[in-house]
Amino acid sequence: MSNIQDKVVIITGASSGIGEAAAKELASKGAKVVLSARREDRLKQLQYEIQASGGQAVYKVTDVTSREQMEQLAAFAISEFGQIDVLVNNAGIMPQAFLAENKVDEWDKMIDVNIKGVLYAIAAIVPSMRERKSGHVINLSSVAGHNIYPGGTVYCGTKFAVKAISEGLRQEEAMNGNNIRVTNISPGAVTSELLETISDPVMKAGLEDFYQVAIGADRIASAIAFAIEQPADVAINEMIIRPTVQVG
Ligand SMILES: NC(=O)c1ccc[n+]([C@@H]2O[C@H](COP(=O)([O-])OP(=O)(O)OC[C@H]3O[C@@H](n4cnc5c(N)ncnc54)[C@H](OP(=O)(O)O)[C@@H]3O)[C@@H](O)[C@H]2O)c1
Repeated sequence: MSNIQDKVVIITGASSGIGEAAAKELASKGAKVVLSARREDRLKQLQYEIQASGGQAVYKVTDVTSREQMEQLAAFAISEFGQIDVLVNNAGIMPQAFLAENKVDEWDKMIDVNIKGVLYAIAAIVPSMRERKSGHVINLSSVAGHNIYPGGTVYCGTKFAVKAISEGLRQEEAMNGNNIRVTNISPGAVTSELLETISDPVMKAGLEDFYQVAIGADRIASAIAFAIEQPADVAINEMIIRPTVQVG
């Protein structure tokens, strides 16, 4: 039996891109997926598609920047499926711009979604994993969590933070013998709706050009499935996944 079969997986940012692809991939392998994001129409459609293919999915509209809504999401997953085995901490935005443009509101939003959202999910969901001494947290960092480039400063800062949170969580859970696996996934260019979050037209055009080499979100979904599929005593801690032809 697959090590994904019957696992309860909460996915944040499931309404598009990598989160949506992960939901389809994991549900096709027998996971019970709990879909979350802000756009209900997308979540409802995805639930329908998964169920129509014989998979199990429920959804809850959730904004990761709300601690209360993240707590409600965790409670919802447990009420629907009894436990939470995996958190795919995926919701994120990338409104890149040069610091000199002073887009401070966008800095705030990136920090709120990409850092605080990841922490709020951990705060809401990991306690029940600790109680059961079993779980898996998969955080979506980025190549931007390893390299810094002009225009990406704040986004890179948030993704470096995700990497730090992943490694700190890994060490603390291992130290306490909680049997919680932590996987930090750092994609390169992947086709999704992420570039739509960029307000600066010149920056957006430049990245659209760079993203011509992008790989499909299903490639990252396969990597997520690979990490979950490992035996419980094996933790894939770090994955960097670029298109073969991506340089930076
Ligand atoms: N695509 C890439 O090239 C790439 C590369 C490296 C890393 N990543 C990372 O991969 C993750 C997924 O991104 P993607 O590429 O799949 O982009 P995407 O298609 O834009 O998906 C982002 C998801 O995050 C959700 N989201 C945004 N703000 C939210 C909020 N406040 N509360 C809850 N959900 C929220 C969006 O749903 P709603 O708008 O419906 O809420 C959407 O489902 C992100 O963390 C991103 O930084 C992507």
